[in-house]
Amino acid sequence: MNPLERIKSKIRIELGDKLPKKWKKVGDVLIADFDLIPSEDKKEIAEIYASELKVKTVIQKNKVNGELRKPKNTQLLYGNDTITKISEYGLTYNIDLSEIMWSTGNTGWRSALAGPKKVKDFYSFDNPKTIIDYFAGIGYFALQMAKGYPESKVIAIDKNPKSIEYLNINAKENSIDNMEIINDDCRNILTKADVIHLGYIGNTVDFLEHTHNSLKNNGIAIFHEAYRNSWLGFKSRSDWIGIPDNFSELMNTKGFSVDKFERVKFYGPSTSHIIAILRKN
Ligand SMILES: C[S@@+](CC[C@H](N)C(=O)[O-])C[C@H]1O[C@@H](n2cnc3c(N)ncnc32)[C@H](O)[C@@H]1O
Repeated sequence: MNPLERIKSKIRIELGDKLPKKWKKVGDVLIADFDLIPSEDKKEIAEIYASELKVKTVIQKNKVNGELRKPKNTQLLYGNDTITKISEYGLTYNIDLSEIMWSTGNTGWRSALAGPKKVKDFYSFDNPKTIIDYFAGIGYFALQMAKGYPESKVIAIDKNPKSIEYLNINAKENSIDNMEIINDDCRNILTKADVIHLGYIGNTVDFLEHTHNSLKNNGIAIFHEAYRNSWLGFKSRSDWIGIPDNFSELMNTKGFSVDKFERVKFYGPSTSHIIAILRKN
């Protein structure tokens, strides 16, 4: 029996088709959508999920809010400890899931130099003196870059004090000592860099002017964003050839040429999360 079949076998048959069939296990915390389950049954069912999937806490899946990407009204269905530890590609990350988002979809891409060739190709920099991560969060990418470039200085910035609290813990726990951690809006930081990492989805393009001003000549930006497949010129999901003209033209207006372009993941049926290497013109 798979885990879902085992769970179903313990729950009243009429609730069977209302059970969440998918879930995210983040460290020892489970996030799933229990919205179809009647309120009076939620706690009991969450407890069964917790015991079958061996987690200490179960949280109702929710949206993230605003520019700080904070989880909205965290609803605990089982347990009460939302702080967990994730191990990925040789690093550990502590996070409080009631306060900070963890994007499971970026697994693989967070591996930077420690990952597969496709990812490594985007995160292989030529002897950078300074790397800045504008949206460092709890260190999703910054820690891996600091580990991969021990001779470089990595400046990790985030606006959310809670993320910074965990970023400090995570840098210490992973014995990272080539990192400066700053709690501020990245646009207030005027330090010049060889590489600027923009791990943000939504309006990343709005940060390109500041990125351009802060990059040294010939410096690069690692740019994440989501775009409609139709705008990118893709007619089907498998359609994926070269660098889309619309994207190159847009980046040109911002003072960048596009060295490399790739899809990180699908973002709903008609949108893609993309990554690009932008070179300052
Ligand atoms: C979506 S999270 C990063 C997600 C991450 N890349 C991942 O793999 O899960 C974006 C982060 O950017 C931070 N942020 C948003 N606007 C910012 C700004 N203007 N300056 C610095 N940090 C900012 C938020 O606090 C949040 O921690």
